[in-house]
Amino acid sequence: MNIDFANLQLQYQKYKNDIDANIHAVLNTSNYIMGEEVHNLERELEEFTGAKHAITCSSGTDALLLAMMAMDIQPGDEIITTPFTFIATAETIVLMKAKPVFVDIEPDTFNIDANLIEAAITSKTKAIIPVSLFGQPADMDAIQAIADKHNLKIIIDGAQSFGSTYNGKTDSSLGDISTTSFFPAKPLGCYGDGGAVFTNNDEYAEKIKMMRVHGQSKRYHHKYIGIGGRLDTIQAAILLAKLPYYTHELADRQQVAERYADALPDNLQIPVIKLNRSSTWAQYTVRVNNRGTLQAKLKDNGIPTAVYYPIPLHLQECFQYLNYKQGDFPIAEKSSNCVLSLPINAYFSENDISLIVKTVNAQIVL
Ligand SMILES: Cc1ncc(COP(=O)(O)O)c(C=O)c1O
Repeated sequence: MNIDFANLQLQYQKYKNDIDANIHAVLNTSNYIMGEEVHNLERELEEFTGAKHAITCSSGTDALLLAMMAMDIQPGDEIITTPFTFIATAETIVLMKAKPVFVDIEPDTFNIDANLIEAAITSKTKAIIPVSLFGQPADMDAIQAIADKHNLKIIIDGAQSFGSTYNGKTDSSLGDISTTSFFPAKPLGCYGDGGAVFTNNDEYAEKIKMMRVHGQSKRYHHKYIGIGGRLDTIQAAILLAKLPYYTHELADRQQVAERYADALPDNLQIPVIKLNRSSTWAQYTVRVNNRGTLQAKLKDNGIPTAVYYPIPLHLQECFQYLNYKQGDFPIAEKSSNCVLSLPINAYFSENDISLIVKTVNAQIVL
């Protein structure tokens, strides 16, 4: 028996009627660009997240770009972020001709360590981008306090955390701007690329809406330099079909995480979720010595795993020009060497979970 990491085919079969009906509705109107489903989805996302504005866009990467464009980030501005994240978080900073400034992560949550942020602030610092890694928000109270003290903006990279909460609020509703990704394997995924930007700020919202359509204020009137960054109507239709089930899916993912926490062996370090937060469990990431051996043995037994992320961003070739070196961010570096993400999704049967737990336990003992 082979375990499927994200189970996207099972997901489609589960919601097939709703998804097919919604796709056909779009095909029957041929409104493929900015059709009514896009607007309907944005209202539903606002309702779901509690953010005043939800603006859909072409990907989680473009969502970050749009956020920085709305904030008018300028060449040479510095933006503080974590080195333990997907490349897009820092890549988009560079695309804005700004400079990523990395700060090490907390040893337990894998998120940026708020205690280390102030030391990285200079007169050029404009914003902080905390990432809600693996689905859990960062220490937002502490980060917000630093941002307020130093007059900095916050963009939450919530690509992995749509629907997670911090002190009872969704992380889409926090910060100055928050972003997410609807990449298929994300907790709420569409069937192609997609993303969204959230903000409570009316001015940012207006600007982001223009920026995603080439800076256009009205047809062929371009107030800003923008991008072609819209979400396709068909992707919006798919998300509209899936969104009503999403709260239930988050609960199912939580249940898998709880089963793992109860049953995995003690010498695997399981993920820590802080008391005032919830996770979407985009990944269930454990820490283990001799990762390679465990990963190979699980693969032999039909259980796929993944390493997010094997090289922290400060040691990536594309960032050599920033002159960071090995040892600069020891927690991120150590995490890169020992993290292993086990399969997690909302569609596992009891048998799937038992098999994974049993197999991990058997291998760990060896
Ligand atoms: C933390 C983080 N930021 C940004 C992105 C980019 O999202 P997308 O793939 O939708 O462009 C991802 C996607 O994996 C991500 O995990």
